Amino acid sequence: MKIGVFDSGLGGLVITKAFIEKLPEYNYFYYGDSAHLPYGDKTSGQILSYSLAAMRYMISKGCKIIIIACNTATAISLRYIQQRFIPQYAPDVKVLGVVIPTVESALQNNVKKVGIVATSATVRSHIYLQELKKIKTDVDVVEIATPELVPAIENNKFNLAEEFVKEYSQSLKNVDSLILGCTHYPLIKDYFRKHLPDVHVVSQDELIAEKLQNYLQRHNEIESFLGRNSLREFKVSSFNKHSQKVAANLFDDIVITKA
Ligand code: DGL
Repeated sequence: MKIGVFDSGLGGLVITKAFIEKLPEYNYFYYGDSAHLPYGDKTSGQILSYSLAAMRYMISKGCKIIIIACNTATAISLRYIQQRFIPQYAPDVKVLGVVIPTVESALQNNVKKVGIVATSATVRSHIYLQELKKIKTDVDVVEIATPELVPAIENNKFNLAEEFVKEYSQSLKNVDSLILGCTHYPLIKDYFRKHLPDVHVVSQDELIAEKLQNYLQRHNEIESFLGRNSLREFKVSSFNKHSQKVAANLFDDIVITKA
């Protein structure tokens, strides 16, 4: 069986790459629901319904554990998936999100003020604010919706993305840690680091693979089912003309096909 990685588009490939680098032996199944991208400006009902359809599809393809790399889907759908959907539909499958491991990383080193950049839906859910305050009640939190960044990245317009990062950085200069709360932002983490040189920028591609490794070491009931043939399958629900190019920036020999 496989490790599944789900995203609303191609941003989750960055996370998949980090998994493959750390845990190359496993079989991976990637699914990007690019037909519905961006999730970040959809209603919660739409995001939940797309996420459930993705879970059904990925389970039918043999995923034993699914990491929802999409922050927006994690924010809106993860609790329902874990508590209601999985127990009825596929109780032997495990679904994990990205928010809690990210929050744990952001709160290292006694930070006082944490910034979050994310999609409008993730900011509206206040999931990062809530999870940060659960661990550190007195932490100050600044949440900023940055809806221009995903379209710029998916369309390979990195100069434009940097202009937006520069603008957003003006409101983030006084935070200690900045959470890049969106799958796509690791691709532009250098811009955040350039424009916010004194801020600790928390990028999910740098922390999530270790968390998965720890999880698998602790959960033999999942790990022992995983195939170890280094197979990789990358699927999207629709192509745009930049898909292959964005993907090829990350993996030399990647073949993406339509689900
Ligand atoms: N994958 C989404 C996230 O991590 C960003 C793209 C979108 O809006 O669908 O929040």
